[in-house]
Amino acid sequence: MTAVRPDIAPKQAPEATQFPTGFVWGAATAAYQVEGAAAEDGRTPSIWDTFSRTPGKVRNGDTGDIAADHYHRYRDDVALMKQLGLKAYRFSISWSRVQPTGRGPAVERGLDFYRKLVDELLEAGIAPVATLYHWDLPQELEDAGGWPQRGTTDRFADYAAIMAGALGDRVATWTTFNEPWCSAFLGYGSGVHAPGRTEPASALRAAHHLNLAHGRAIEVLRDQLPAGAQTSVTLNLHQVRPLTASAADADAARRIEAVGNRIFTEPMLRGEYPEDLLADTAHLVDWSKLVQDGDLAAISRPVDILGINYYTPTLVSTPEKGEAGSGNDVHGSSAFSPWPGSEHVAFHLAEGKARTAMDWPIDPNGLYNLLMDVTRDHPGMPLMVTENGAAFDDYVSPEGRVEDPERIAYLHGHLDAVQRAVADGADVRGYFLWSLMDNFEWAYGYSKRFGTVYVDYASQRRIPKASAHWYSDVIRRHALPPADLS
Ligand code: FCB
Repeated sequence: MTAVRPDIAPKQAPEATQFPTGFVWGAATAAYQVEGAAAEDGRTPSIWDTFSRTPGKVRNGDTGDIAADHYHRYRDDVALMKQLGLKAYRFSISWSRVQPTGRGPAVERGLDFYRKLVDELLEAGIAPVATLYHWDLPQELEDAGGWPQRGTTDRFADYAAIMAGALGDRVATWTTFNEPWCSAFLGYGSGVHAPGRTEPASALRAAHHLNLAHGRAIEVLRDQLPAGAQTSVTLNLHQVRPLTASAADADAARRIEAVGNRIFTEPMLRGEYPEDLLADTAHLVDWSKLVQDGDLAAISRPVDILGINYYTPTLVSTPEKGEAGSGNDVHGSSAFSPWPGSEHVAFHLAEGKARTAMDWPIDPNGLYNLLMDVTRDHPGMPLMVTENGAAFDDYVSPEGRVEDPERIAYLHGHLDAVQRAVADGADVRGYFLWSLMDNFEWAYGYSKRFGTVYVDYASQRRIPKASAHWYSDVIRRHALPPADLS
């Protein structure tokens, strides 16, 4: 008798959905967080050098003096990126390395570092994505008043011209600012970031000048870059949710959206400041004097891509349901609010969700909703997730490995959210994991590890974590692996 074999198809993993053709896979860093070489080749202090040296501002008194020593190790780092299969590297330029006083001629040695880095990337087949400003204003410009001073926008336009001249022939994607919200409201409002000022009116002035500097830089870049180059700005748009369905909580959400998101998106993408923002903050600044003729036209010069950084949603209510000002600690806590005009709004952390080492609730739907909200409000806008990732308490096992299953789960969930948003109509062009490697996490110093590559700071040895191998696999497949294999 012949054995009857049931006709069962071989066990197969379900077909994974491919990401769109041309979808860019990258990882991001920022100059002060990784470069080190703080006083080499003519670099002068930025506001972060000064701030990190101010007692009590950064955990353990850590500074970016050495950081991940990327300045000296960039060749090996690019080789590692290539090994991991990255298609793009998002880095930022240290303004005080290339134009130490923030004005006048550039320093060739400083420019050379970025030329060499970019050449190395191109050689490795990795697209360089350059950010002009990731929070590190030359100290001399802060001494002259910093971002609350309108003159700083002139300086930024000059600096943009220097960089377009130096790298315009080889960098095809440019970003003016990374998260101007943090520069304005953490730098000049809550003071948890450099320069550490706690002046609500100055924070609003800084926001307007960051907008203006963005627009002026876009103009300069457009004039100087070759036709195919792409320009962008990266915003940390808050995915704001009201705690309850009450009208009061809805108003709290409206206020935080205004001073957290629309203060940037509306002037940049529509050429106007939102009326409700102007009303909420009218007691702090005279907007009719702050915003001069021609400013809005300059700010709204078109960008090719809107960069979005997302980590966790922002849950808000009226103060009765919580303590006003709590939840200020997105990048460090302070007695001062980073929300001028809306200081009384209370912040909450969603219950019942896993948290990262930053205590940020993990919520991939927040990213989906954010991408869909921006697509609804600005139809057709090409988007790029320029940062997304998580800190966990990583350590090297006795076998020399770093197992980070929580990070893999985080990335999987968020990439799945990106894919769902794409399927539902969002034009997402790429994804940059934060961060390529562990680095100086601002007010938290080296205590938080966001890298997909572990950095042993004593030896500067790099160890790709399990998530780096997982991410390589995603890039190779151009699709998410089935969840049970991750
Ligand atoms: C973002 C910053 C980045 C890093 C991550 C964790 O807000 O742009 O430099 O600090 O948060």
